[in-house]
Amino acid sequence: MPVTTIEWIDDHIRLIDQTRLPTELVYLDIDDLPRLAEAIQSLRVRGAPALGIAAAFGLLLIAHRFRGEDAAELLRHLRNAADLLRRTRPTAVNLGWALDQMLQVAEQHIQQPVAAIRRALHDKAMTLFESDRQVCRQIGEHGAGLIPDGAQIVTHCNTGALATVDWGTALGAIFTAHAQGKKLHVWVDETRPLLQGARLTMWELMHEGIDATLICDNTAAFVMQQRKIDLCIVGADRIATNGDTANKIGTYHLAVAAKHHGIPFYVAAPISTIDFTLDRGEQIPIEKRAAEEVTHGFGRQTAPEGASVYSPAFDITPNELITAIITEVGVLYPPFREAIPQLAKNT
Ligand code: MRU
Repeated sequence: MPVTTIEWIDDHIRLIDQTRLPTELVYLDIDDLPRLAEAIQSLRVRGAPALGIAAAFGLLLIAHRFRGEDAAELLRHLRNAADLLRRTRPTAVNLGWALDQMLQVAEQHIQQPVAAIRRALHDKAMTLFESDRQVCRQIGEHGAGLIPDGAQIVTHCNTGALATVDWGTALGAIFTAHAQGKKLHVWVDETRPLLQGARLTMWELMHEGIDATLICDNTAAFVMQQRKIDLCIVGADRIATNGDTANKIGTYHLAVAAKHHGIPFYVAAPISTIDFTLDRGEQIPIEKRAAEEVTHGFGRQTAPEGASVYSPAFDITPNELITAIITEVGVLYPPFREAIPQLAKNT
């Protein structure tokens, strides 16, 4: 640890197939767009920052496979690929953010030969990749400052190395606090229906030797009532400029329980997860997942045939339930409607 969640190797993408964890650590080599789109939709690669890198590498794939000499035609291919990738997972803003950055590079180099555009796209994708690594370490440092020695922490979904290039955001703060020698105990929400907490977060915490206990999603409020939780820390898929935060379904639930029990609720995310075009959370598009993920989770039927299902992948935690947002440039406190636009001016 940390594991290499996703990387670019010569002319293709290599990523961990996260659907196989925790029992098997399997790497996938992906060299075409349909397979990448499938990997994203099936959550073989997931987590907002990792999705951004996957999308950037997706456009790099297009540039590598393009055999023509016409730069305008390459740009058309890149735009079509970006449209397809954008639709794969609509909530995580990092995905569209990375695609836009890559397209911008192609547009800036449109007067140059295809080989030069390909090189520029390669450099940009590598910059995004390296920057994610650094950003996570910085989030880890800022976040660890909020975690006291002896803390009992609850987290939801997976925000570790598997959700980023390495280290992670919310889990990165926990890793940093642990590396600083703090004694911690983490309560891990299993995170229905796809169990990112049980399968991925427990796997990462156990590899790091951090004391952790798995709980069902409906257990956290009871553990809070028993005074066994000092703070909550989660990631984000998209944050509006008023601080409303979209994250894995069940996050809102946890924030409401934390408010009731007077427990601080922290969101850790890179600035690339803030959508400066949105005023408030209800404008964030929420991805809906297939009914089978609930009725036939992991190959076993657990609801009657034909049961009606509502399965949003994310929910919105209103800003008033959030104690602070931890970014790579520091910790933001309410009122977020002032702190977030200020951040936009300073970065
Ligand atoms: O559906 P997923 O597994 O992609 O959802 C991931 C989350 O909700 C994470 O908390 C979020 O992307 C932040 S990852 C650093």
